[in-house]
Amino acid sequence: MNIFGRAYRTIWPDEDGVSIHVIDQTRLPHRFETVSLSTSAEVADAIVTMVVRGAPLIGATAAYGYAMAMREDASDANLEAAYHRLYETRPTAVNLRWALDDLKARLAPLAASERFPAAWQRSGDICDEDVEICRKIGEAGLSLIKKAQKPGKTVNILTHCNAGWLACVDWGTALAPIYMAHDAGIPVHVWVDETRPRNQGASLTAYELGAHGIPHTVIPDNTGGHLMQHGMVDLCIVGTDRTTARGDVCNKIGTYLKALAAQANQVPFYVALPHTTIDWTIEDGVKEIPIEERNAREVTHMTGRLLDGTLATVDIMAPGSKALNYAFDVTPAHLVTALVTDRGICTATREGLMGLFPERG
Ligand code: MRU
Repeated sequence: MNIFGRAYRTIWPDEDGVSIHVIDQTRLPHRFETVSLSTSAEVADAIVTMVVRGAPLIGATAAYGYAMAMREDASDANLEAAYHRLYETRPTAVNLRWALDDLKARLAPLAASERFPAAWQRSGDICDEDVEICRKIGEAGLSLIKKAQKPGKTVNILTHCNAGWLACVDWGTALAPIYMAHDAGIPVHVWVDETRPRNQGASLTAYELGAHGIPHTVIPDNTGGHLMQHGMVDLCIVGTDRTTARGDVCNKIGTYLKALAAQANQVPFYVALPHTTIDWTIEDGVKEIPIEERNAREVTHMTGRLLDGTLATVDIMAPGSKALNYAFDVTPAHLVTALVTDRGICTATREGLMGLFPERG
């Protein structure tokens, strides 16, 4: 995607073969800054503090972190220890486990001296593959936007959180079809859920849609139901951090409420995902997906830009009140109209997923 006329990915290796660069997502939309990471500890910290975030990008970044860990110590003991250190950074997005499992399986049989170069190479390949996967999701999802189009009318699409290119390496998952529709000349407008408490919608989705010239409006998280009741939403499309083998979908907190409102108002509710986000080991998302609970300070405080341009963090709560900060919720499969994957579109059912991924049967 282009920022200030320059093509960017969210993550790229330095020519030194030692460090990687990422866009610091804690500074957007007010500052566009990149950060260089060169140790596995720095990578782990960047994931925990959400300098990088979004399921596919967490996986790609963790892969590079694992590679760096192999440069630091390529012993069998560290192959195990580094896996666990990185795995524990964020619990819900299964792409993290997918990337670490992929690397570990490739590295375990290798001699210690071969591990770092192999891991570095594979991390780059994971990034390249993610771009291609998201492009395919975009192509599949484009057909749904075309289906929703009425002659002479703009297609109004609601999304939650940020499942765009900032959450991936490029393109995005839920936003990829929107970019493709816009580029194909289909008039689209996006309702962007603000996505409290970290405001990934207001800060990141609005930023990247704006940078691409896509008409959009940021709405408080509680507005979507009202818009749907009044026919102002043609379809919803969101991303996911983990999808179970039967099609339950875990995504940013508040997604479930949007799915309920969509069903009540007969608005299609689509979920876009790369195959790396499917957790084939579990069925019941509500019972089996670990839900990250983050620091209450993300609820009690907000960061923004003051009128003089400086960034500031302010306390917004009554002193002494407690706050609770679950980062994700689970939308049961029956509320999902369809899953949009890199292998095409299917129902949110075990049979639907097996139809696209028969090798998992
Ligand atoms: O806590 P975050 O910002 O990492 O959560 C991101 C989301 O919930 C996205 O919707 C999800 O990762 C899908 S990304 C393509």
